[in-house]
Amino acid sequence: MNRYTVAVLGATGLVGRTMLRILEDRDFPISTLRPLASARSAGTTVPFDGRLLDVSAVDAQQFEGVDIALFSAGSDAAREWGPVAVERGAVVIDNSSAFRDKADVPLIVPEINAEVLRDADPRIISNPNCSTIQLVMALQPLRVRYGIRRVVVCTYQSVSGAGKKGIDQLHTELRGENAQVRAFAHPIADNVLPHIAAFDDDGFTTEERKLIHETRKIFSDPALRISPTCARVPVTSCHSEAVHVELAGEYDLEEVRELLENTTGIIVIDDPESTAYPLPTIAVGRDEVFVGRIRRDASVENGLALWVVADNLRKGAATNAVQIAELWRERSESTQLQ
Ligand SMILES: NC(=O)c1ccc[n+]([C@@H]2O[C@H](COP(=O)([O-])OP(=O)(O)OC[C@H]3O[C@@H](n4cnc5c(N)ncnc54)[C@H](OP(=O)(O)O)[C@@H]3O)[C@@H](O)[C@H]2O)c1
Repeated sequence: MNRYTVAVLGATGLVGRTMLRILEDRDFPISTLRPLASARSAGTTVPFDGRLLDVSAVDAQQFEGVDIALFSAGSDAAREWGPVAVERGAVVIDNSSAFRDKADVPLIVPEINAEVLRDADPRIISNPNCSTIQLVMALQPLRVRYGIRRVVVCTYQSVSGAGKKGIDQLHTELRGENAQVRAFAHPIADNVLPHIAAFDDDGFTTEERKLIHETRKIFSDPALRISPTCARVPVTSCHSEAVHVELAGEYDLEEVRELLENTTGIIVIDDPESTAYPLPTIAVGRDEVFVGRIRRDASVENGLALWVVADNLRKGAATNAVQIAELWRERSESTQLQ
């Protein structure tokens, strides 16, 4: 079996640390792992495979001999170091939004559009935004079976979606103290903020635009009508979404339930009578997307309503990125055999 030299840029962050755990859990064949971060973290360590590995400040040298570079260090670092890593022969799998809208950069959720990687040999592959991944996972079986006319989605996104400083702000405020470094425009404890990232001239936020553009790109459906509102809530981990879908044709509710139950990567929890529905406390630490509150939305023809919850650090980021690395590995090993 081939073993790979893997660099993780952003290894000290929430997503980077989760990627290290998932590479271990999924037994990715690694010969050398290089944890990289900013100069602030040089000399610190991160746990991997029962050892503590030294973190290095990122520089061009660090990408020499790297096969796969998993990036979770934000867009600026991705723009700076992505081309450098590629020039040195690595394939880059990036968690930021830096390259997602580029036509020649695939945006991959392996359960949905893995075939894009079988037909091309991109050097940069983007991982979608966390709120997009769980949405498209729940929509995909419905789209394939019935077609989708329109989606209205409201998100309830946890503070870990804003990285370490998001968690720090919530936990500091919960102790009754003022956060020194704030991730959000307002206090987040006891609050709900209808504001994630910057507003544009039409009043939508960049987070909402990402949901629209990324969903269309993953589904190869540039005309898909989708209307999002993204909110930040005082939950540490896992994003929740209220999803209202207008299907293209008639459907049977029981069939929808079975379809979702039989989809790999989805777990249905849907017994409102016994207060059983997806919750962040159920989804945390899991790789599946949880779906419940499955019901007819009679306000539109063929309307369907769902409640969708997933761990934003796992399937919403790190797990999906490692799954992409597994796809890349399969593809490159099968090409070598030919
Ligand atoms: N959190 C989520 O749910 C989520 C989901 C999907 C995608 N993402 C994306 O993943 C990325 C990381 O998110 P996170 O939540 O892990 O953030 P985080 O906890 O704040 O960690 C950021 C990481 O990036 C490193 N970094 C920042 N600027 C850098 C630079 N200029 N050069 C090198 N390293 C740099 C940091 O290193 P230091 O420790 O040295 O500062 C740290 O390791 C972001 O692009 C984010 O949008 C996050």
